Amino acid sequence: MKIIVIGAGYVGLSNAVLLAQKNQVKLIDIDTNKILLLNQNKSPIKDSLIQKYLSTKKLSLSYDSELCSDLSSTDVIIIATPTNFNSKTKTFNTNIIESILFDLHQKKFSNLVIIRSTVPIGFTERIKKKYPNFELAFFPEFLREGEALKDSLYPTRIICGSKSRSAKNFLKILQKSSIKKNIKTLITSPTEAESIKLFSNMYLALRISFFNELDSFSVSKNLNSQEIIEGVSMDPRIGSYYNNPSFGYGGYCLPKDTKQLKENFKNIPQNLIQATIEANATRKKFITSEILKINAKTIGVYRISMKKGSDNWRESSIIDIIKLLKKKGKNIIIYEPYISEKEFLGFPIINNITIFKNQSKIIITNRMQKELEDIKNKVFTRDIFNTN
Ligand SMILES: NC(=O)c1ccc[n+]([C@@H]2O[C@H](COP(=O)([O-])OP(=O)(O)OC[C@H]3O[C@@H](n4cnc5c(N)ncnc54)[C@H](O)[C@@H]3O)[C@@H](O)[C@H]2O)c1
Repeated sequence: MKIIVIGAGYVGLSNAVLLAQKNQVKLIDIDTNKILLLNQNKSPIKDSLIQKYLSTKKLSLSYDSELCSDLSSTDVIIIATPTNFNSKTKTFNTNIIESILFDLHQKKFSNLVIIRSTVPIGFTERIKKKYPNFELAFFPEFLREGEALKDSLYPTRIICGSKSRSAKNFLKILQKSSIKKNIKTLITSPTEAESIKLFSNMYLALRISFFNELDSFSVSKNLNSQEIIEGVSMDPRIGSYYNNPSFGYGGYCLPKDTKQLKENFKNIPQNLIQATIEANATRKKFITSEILKINAKTIGVYRISMKKGSDNWRESSIIDIIKLLKKKGKNIIIYEPYISEKEFLGFPIINNITIFKNQSKIIITNRMQKELEDIKNKVFTRDIFNTN
């Protein structure tokens, strides 16, 4: 099959690599720096498996910074561009997807278009009516940053958000491209698939917030948070996974997807979504007040990315904590090797780990790292189980 993937980010690049094992794939991105790197088989995002596949596997993968005009030989076009949350309209900004669809229409594309970007519930059905010349399907993406290709090769499930023949064919291609066999799959209409994506992330945000509130309680009452979580998690209906306290949920998806779902409810009564969004803000304030209690002269911030091994700090919870500490006039230094600038939010970046450790009176980190073991007594974290 001839496939074009638009957007070489976490989703687009991993989908392109996955599919290029057995199909002819072209990956398009307007960011010419990314295309330059990819043409040298270098991954523009930090993902060791993507890098390994780019350098060692036989892939039929080419790159470009724009769509060609003749799309007649292309079977499938996958859209994986950003859908950032617009706080004014209180919904995802889908302008990029819409302008790509318009372009495909102008170029008389007549086969299958797959949306893998996360979109508001109802988007695909609404937009489908405008473009009757091509098939439109929504396949929600569930990968995690840092493990993007691994999650694509071993998907937890594949949801095919269209009952059309061509979408079902594409589902088979995804199954064949994966290493995992007998993948759980579900075929639904686009709106149900869009709902599955947002409700899945809503549940994850809710679960994180639950264990974070449990942890806030334990800290306030001087109780052993680890014992309480372990005991609670022994109930098989609860389970001992995804229960590690943190500074709050963050990253590109959970904050924006919960807000989008809240907007999709509009006049339908709800409390949980609103409460979860508020609980996350409350948790960050609680963590900040605990840090302030230590009254350290210089606070070291170890890494601003959300997860271990990630080079991405979009909507990272520790950034909000830095902002709250800044309002209190605290003196902060930051260790983040992925930042080449001298400052972040007005605070110095100190990327010499020895100097950083020496200058920090306490070090705050969302996730504990081996590198900090020698100064453990200086570290403030709520990472109990050492999982992401
Ligand atoms: N990152 C995740 O973990 C994840 C997981 C599931 C779903 N999603 C969803 O997938 C979508 C993409 O997320 P991402 O993390 O891959 O984003 P990203 O920001 O990493 O990548 C998006 C890419 O699209 C490119 N782009 C923007 N406009 C373009 C255009 N007009 N033509 C071609 N390329 C263009 C950008 O240059 C960028 O490289 C979002 O809707 C997101 O919500 C992300």
